[in-house]
Amino acid sequence: MTGSVGAPAERREGREKVSGTARYAAEYHCPGRAQAWPVPAAVARGRVTGVDTAAALAVPGVLTVLTHENAPRLAEPDDPTLAVLQNPRVPHRGWFVALVVAETLEAARAGAAAVRVDYAAEEHDVTLTASHPGVYVPEEAGAGYPAVRERGDPDGAFGSSAARVDVAYRVPPLHNHPMEPHASTARWDDGRLTVHTSSQGAGAVRGVLAGLFGIPEERIVVTAEHVGGGFGSKGTPRPDVVLAVMAARQTGRAVTVALPRRYLPAVVGHRAPTLHRLRLGADADGRLTSLVHEVTTHTSRIKEFVEQAAVPARVMYASPHSRTEHRVAALDVPSPSWMRAPGEAPGMYALESAMDELAGELGMDPVELRVRNEPDAEPDSGKPFSSRHLVECLREGARRFGWAGRDPRPGSRREGPLVLGTGVAAATYPVMVSPATASARALPDGTFLVRINATDIGTGARTVLAQVGADALGVPLERVRIEVGSTELPSAPLAGGSSGTASWGWAVHEAGARLARRLAEHPGPLPEQGLDTRADTQGSADAESDWARHAFGAHFAEVAVDTVTGEVRVGRLLGTYAAGRILNARTARSQFVGGMTMGLGMALTEGSTMDAAFGDFTESDLASYHVPVHADVAAIEAHWLDEDDPCLNPMGSKGIGEIGIVGTAAAIGNAVYHATGVRFRELPLTPDRVL
Ligand code: MOS
Repeated sequence: MTGSVGAPAERREGREKVSGTARYAAEYHCPGRAQAWPVPAAVARGRVTGVDTAAALAVPGVLTVLTHENAPRLAEPDDPTLAVLQNPRVPHRGWFVALVVAETLEAARAGAAAVRVDYAAEEHDVTLTASHPGVYVPEEAGAGYPAVRERGDPDGAFGSSAARVDVAYRVPPLHNHPMEPHASTARWDDGRLTVHTSSQGAGAVRGVLAGLFGIPEERIVVTAEHVGGGFGSKGTPRPDVVLAVMAARQTGRAVTVALPRRYLPAVVGHRAPTLHRLRLGADADGRLTSLVHEVTTHTSRIKEFVEQAAVPARVMYASPHSRTEHRVAALDVPSPSWMRAPGEAPGMYALESAMDELAGELGMDPVELRVRNEPDAEPDSGKPFSSRHLVECLREGARRFGWAGRDPRPGSRREGPLVLGTGVAAATYPVMVSPATASARALPDGTFLVRINATDIGTGARTVLAQVGADALGVPLERVRIEVGSTELPSAPLAGGSSGTASWGWAVHEAGARLARRLAEHPGPLPEQGLDTRADTQGSADAESDWARHAFGAHFAEVAVDTVTGEVRVGRLLGTYAAGRILNARTARSQFVGGMTMGLGMALTEGSTMDAAFGDFTESDLASYHVPVHADVAAIEAHWLDEDDPCLNPMGSKGIGEIGIVGTAAAIGNAVYHATGVRFRELPLTPDRVL
């Protein structure tokens, strides 16, 4: 070990990014490249009865208009949201019904405006309620979790508890809105396909395209060299890449499809709204006797996706009786999908708000209530934790934040028109890992090349992997070059589920360590092409582990609520995390702070409205869907404990990409209650609600 891992190494591509030379998917200016602009459906449900493309084709520069009548036929996709232009059905407003391909972006846009589509509209239903007649219990929630888990007699135990809260919360639909909208450039040459796409995983895109277009993966190259964020919405291929490949095949040109910002909410997934009912029963000492978390959410008519919001309650607190349940209604809405900490973010908002309400009922400090309910093993599985340290996060966070001596009475701090308050919430996120492959090469000039199809979605992944490689090789960081973001590199999983660095790093570590051993045995100078090694790791699936593996954290917030305007300002946010070994102090801090900033948005400004009559989201751009700006974000501190957990991977790391968002909204909501004495149970806490 040369000690690269853990150091605050700077992002390797930082200069390219800030100088504008880093190339994103829409910026591959292949010769003769055409541009395309999609046409979204203008009804909330129904059927296309006719498309008149004459006016569009008359626009100078327009090359072709693809519709369901002339677009290439695709094999049936596993993901129905990718079956674009295959039939006249309109499953929801915003579904693409045509694509205009032109010499320029301007011509494509003008052509799209000139396409005339006739519809047979049908009645639509987009309004979720807990008692919606279409609500059912699915088999699974999210990524393969059982929809329902029950232990003991939760209803009976709740009824006979000394202290009880029975409360409902609502989290609205939320949008990922990465800075770089979804975009793809595609090109066919002699039956070979090259695609540059903005994706969290080029390998998965290649696999899906091979299936849809019926060509072997060997004839497809997909790159995702630089990606301007994804937050889950780029975890799977989206219609932009399918449309770009179709248009390139149809026109024989390279084609770029860059989705306009306002089209994203309908076609790239969203965090579905969640309606929560929490019942917490406790004895007089604050020990939970019953924990019931029921979640109702929506999905679309074409795809079942169930936000797994009751899952974190299976991990957090000891309770002899428990039920966690998901229900879903299929409505005429766009298909929901992954968004940063799917399940944990809305679920922990509800659970950690209810814990705060229970602390109030008991007259207990909310930090102490959580400490008192610390389990010996994972409550639902009975498995021991490989490491947990939630209590340490709460204690250390409380110390740094200055929690001691807090007056628990709501509304006890006033400064002119402002009321001030503080709040706490816990956070958790599972440790996941997938098999990966990496290669390492030693060159005669003393440098090393590490190659892996990892994706750097802005997290600093390539930098961290170079650090892991350097330590495994036992050489200084600057001697290690790294290549990521292409299917021409050794195959590796996507950047998702906070599992990227654990999965890729494992393979990079193995390849580097193997190469170091070979070099130690290698006599004399290296051949000109260098010396190569390759490593395949199996990772280890969670289900097979004897350990419950999760990251934990504690969030603290201080807010000021303006009693004249209803505005909530967050003065301080502090997170303390137990996330295994931190591999790069600089990029890790950015991940934590970024997650907390997104949680601040979830608490105060972000929220989408499903308009019942219109049948779609009303906020579709960044002028109406408010993400926090610098002025909204005051002091954010992220700290971590040094965890030494041997049950993870060779680096000893857990994931850090998502846990920052998890407890933030509840900590802010609890602080608003402490400031005002009023419990708001619906996000976001905008002035109109708070006043
Ligand atoms: Mo993240 S929502 O797991 O890409």
